[in-house]
Amino acid sequence: MKNRLLLLPIFALFLGLGTASLFSQETPHLEKRGAATQLIVDGSPYLILGGELHNSSSSNLEYMKPIWPSLEAMGLNTVVTPLSWELIEPRESAFDFTLVDGLLAQARAAHERMVFLWLASWKNGMSSYPPVWVKSDTRRFPRVVLNGNEIELLSPASAATQEADARAFAALMKHIKEVDSRDHTVLMMQVENEVGVLGGSRDHSEAADKAFASPVPAELTAYLKAHRESLYPELKALWDANGDKMAGAWAEVFGDSARADEIFMAWNYARFVHGVTARGKAAYNIPMYVNTWLMGDNTPPGDYPSGGPEPRVMDIWKAAGSALDFYAPDLYASNFSDWCRRYHRDGNPLFMPEAQGRTTGAANVFYALGEEAGFGFSPFAIEDEADPKGDLAASYRLLATLEPLIVAHQIDGTMHGFVLNQGSPSVDFVMQGYTVHITLDEIFGNHAENGFGLIMATGKDEFIGAGKGFRVLFTPLAASGPKVGIAAVDEGVFENGKWIPGRRLNGDENDQGKGWRFTPRQLTTEKVKLYHFE
Ligand code: DGJ
Repeated sequence: MKNRLLLLPIFALFLGLGTASLFSQETPHLEKRGAATQLIVDGSPYLILGGELHNSSSSNLEYMKPIWPSLEAMGLNTVVTPLSWELIEPRESAFDFTLVDGLLAQARAAHERMVFLWLASWKNGMSSYPPVWVKSDTRRFPRVVLNGNEIELLSPASAATQEADARAFAALMKHIKEVDSRDHTVLMMQVENEVGVLGGSRDHSEAADKAFASPVPAELTAYLKAHRESLYPELKALWDANGDKMAGAWAEVFGDSARADEIFMAWNYARFVHGVTARGKAAYNIPMYVNTWLMGDNTPPGDYPSGGPEPRVMDIWKAAGSALDFYAPDLYASNFSDWCRRYHRDGNPLFMPEAQGRTTGAANVFYALGEEAGFGFSPFAIEDEADPKGDLAASYRLLATLEPLIVAHQIDGTMHGFVLNQGSPSVDFVMQGYTVHITLDEIFGNHAENGFGLIMATGKDEFIGAGKGFRVLFTPLAASGPKVGIAAVDEGVFENGKWIPGRRLNGDENDQGKGWRFTPRQLTTEKVKLYHFE
């Protein structure tokens, strides 16, 4: 492999190409590198420091004109941009990509990359975005039935709906390939938005009732058996509790409850969306994912979209196909780190297309990238906080300077990220032979209310940290042996990957050597060197 990599520039010279243009032939893709799965763009790992637009903003180019520069000014590198089926296929088979081309041109002018959000059969558990020729033809495109009534929600059990959605998506991907396979402005596609049945735990249409009473597909139970040890604990417990059956109707295998309904809907949505995704990928193969409206604890399915890729049914989605590359949380919940862990497991990388922004997002992005090897972060309604002086902008600007270091440390697993507050004021990590004890900052009786950051082990007894409002103590893991002290703390910045040191901070700024401190007043990047004494 190494030899082949060495030969690449030689081939490039032979072909009269620079390596940059050679690499740019490569479409954006996900790659497992060491401890992380990373998004590779033009040959290098890429961190999405992004934001998602309001649903309707990108339906109009004039409306978007002033938004792009404001997003660029706040340091965003990628915009999650809604694109609806109704606007590209207003009449059946009559495709119009004017909006797509316009958005691409605007994004490029603002030096932004994009993730397109395919608002098609479903959006927030409803079907408001299909073209009217789909919405109005309820015979050809059947609806979900709840309590004996058809609702404004397309049934995932319909092959005709899947075919119409897939055809439009494939046409879109073919077009994107034609206009973007050189520039790679479009990095990924989100397929549909927050799918699932709202208002009930499952579809009760005639077709769905029949399928529910039929045997669970053998490929699903075979998957559960083959992946038994890595199944999400709640799903495994449910399957175990019902006798680990390999065959039977849905309620027999998964129990006669709303949980079985949710599993049934997950299978049906997953089959549909994998099918649409596969058709799009056949036209242009870039990473594609589905996002999730997260369930509240103890919330019954149907109060949130039943069948979306919640952690407890993500295995069902994986069993149903492999076209989708990963599953993403729309993470507004306060127990941010718990949800990150529930999605960053069993090979699923972490990217959140929707999250809280502002002060909360400015902190959480450090945890997502630093602790969970996330490859991107994207608060919703980003145009509402397009403030170059805002907290999110400050975090993005600093993280952009650290990008090469962050992606390298994600690969070798020598980095930790954290968010501290009064309820959770400290955290310990083991790094390079030390217990690294991180607490909210306090000095001379002043206590920080909040803190966040990340720390990377960059050499023997050397660490780089970034963030604000915390302090760090190092304790050697070995009980006996020399003691450790702080040799020096330097603030600094990375410019094009090169460390430019600033002030030496060995006075009040590191509490006279008692701790490595990050002031609560502003974001800083600092390097610490440790020394040993008897
Ligand atoms: C989640 C949805 O995915 C978005 O499209 C939007 O409706 C937000 N909720 C609103 O908070």
